[in-house]
Amino acid sequence: MTFNELNLSKRIVDAITKAGYKEPSPIQEQAIPLMMEGRDLIACAQTGTGKTAAFALPVLNMLDNESRPHPRALVLTPTRELAIQILENFKKYGRYMRLHTVCFYGGAKQGPQIGAYERGCDVLVATPGRLLDYMNQGIVSLRDIEIFILDEADRMLDMGFIHDIRKVVAEIPEERQTVMFSATMPKEIEALAKDILHDPESIKIAPTTSPAETVDQKICFLEKDNKKIVLSDFLKQDNVKKSIIFTRTKHGADHLVRDLGKLGIESMAIHGNKTQGQRQNALERFRSGNIKVLIATDVASRGIDIPKISHVFNYDLPVETESYIHRIGRAGRAGETGESITLCSKDEMGLLYDIEKMMQKEIPELETELSVSIERVQRGERRRFGRAVAAAKASAKEDRFSFKKKEEKLRKLKNQKKASQKKTGFEKFYKKNGDIFEEATKAFEKKQKNHSGKKIKEETGKKKEHKRRAS
Ligand SMILES: Nc1ncnc2c1ncn2[C@@H]1O[C@H](COP(=O)(O)OP(=O)(O)OP(=O)(O)O)[C@@H](O)[C@H]1O
Ligand SMILES: [Mg+2]
Repeated sequence: MTFNELNLSKRIVDAITKAGYKEPSPIQEQAIPLMMEGRDLIACAQTGTGKTAAFALPVLNMLDNESRPHPRALVLTPTRELAIQILENFKKYGRYMRLHTVCFYGGAKQGPQIGAYERGCDVLVATPGRLLDYMNQGIVSLRDIEIFILDEADRMLDMGFIHDIRKVVAEIPEERQTVMFSATMPKEIEALAKDILHDPESIKIAPTTSPAETVDQKICFLEKDNKKIVLSDFLKQDNVKKSIIFTRTKHGADHLVRDLGKLGIESMAIHGNKTQGQRQNALERFRSGNIKVLIATDVASRGIDIPKISHVFNYDLPVETESYIHRIGRAGRAGETGESITLCSKDEMGLLYDIEKMMQKEIPELETELSVSIERVQRGERRRFGRAVAAAKASAKEDRFSFKKKEEKLRKLKNQKKASQKKTGFEKFYKKNGDIFEEATKAFEKKQKNHSGKKIKEETGKKKEHKRRAS
């Protein structure tokens, strides 16, 4: 099949040809016609197979090169970096069109985002927190939204985001098209998704728990204390050209940057405790090849598209089982091949059990000099490891909630600041025009004084007259 056969406008076909795409990927072949029919959709396809274009191309086509005062398509994503990346994709595919795409995300100044929105916005790409913030301030109107897209839908509908999504959905017209895309879709989340969708079509290019076939997966069993040295040995190999290393915690990521530095390996970290500027800087330097090793928490596990990543390392196993598929999917994108190496110590065997159960596949072992023999957890034994896993899961959840709480607090503080700014605005006005107020007040007081002075005079005059007559 060709892009021409998908009935896309010439402007769009020209833009994708310029991007170097020769033919649609399977998810694009299936999702584009259904979206153009106006159907609601749950679409699952492996990482790196072009889901972004699968929703962006039909959206641009349906908006028909006609710019209107309010946005007509809304895309929500879980992370800021992904929102920016999707914005860039819309710009690339819509380069020969008059439509405007605007991106709202946290951690950045409000002014430029609002400025861009006010200059014109047909497609709005946003992270939920910042969008709600602008909605509360009455800056953005969603009343004309015709197409609502959730990228990384299973993540958007889990505990961390579902409340925000509900608030946004409440502001979008009932009569809309809703589409959801992800590489993974647990059954319980799919059931939840149906609340928001209307008679949806479901596309599954592969089972919803399939990792990219282009990634060669390996696992090393080793002592926890040996992870650093084994990792640094891998990183020094010639075939490891560009690699991303996932850790479970933000502190773990920072420590690893420091420890690898001592072993002569330069790296940068990206996680939720970094400023937005630091996050984007690390990602850009990694993208451009300026640094070859990026250390990340799961904030970078979903959707991020950086070509030519040769290796993904799981320094810690992910607590959220689906994260494994997303993490290793940062390699082997758009038909390239890549490798993933997971470093697994004894206390993580329970997590490994969950991952292998999800994929219905055992990850092949890669032996190193420091390998130890660890028996895989068997079905009956899973309980023994359950407690550690449950604790790890709870702490990850807490982390996410405390982050949400922090964001909420920040939002409140900002609103308070805005209110006090209003006050200072009045104070400034008073300072500038205060003399007029003061003059007016003085004149008024003088008038009152004169008036009462006159009265007193009149009264004393009357008294004197009275005395004179009496005498
Ligand atoms: N038809 C195509 N031909 C060639 N390359 C393509 C095509 N469609 C998309 N690509 C490229 O494939 C890469 C991966 O695309 P994209 O980021 O949309 O994947 P994805 O399916 O959303 O992955 P993830 O699940 O990780 O988010 C991008 O670099 C994109 O430019
Ligand atoms: Mg994607």
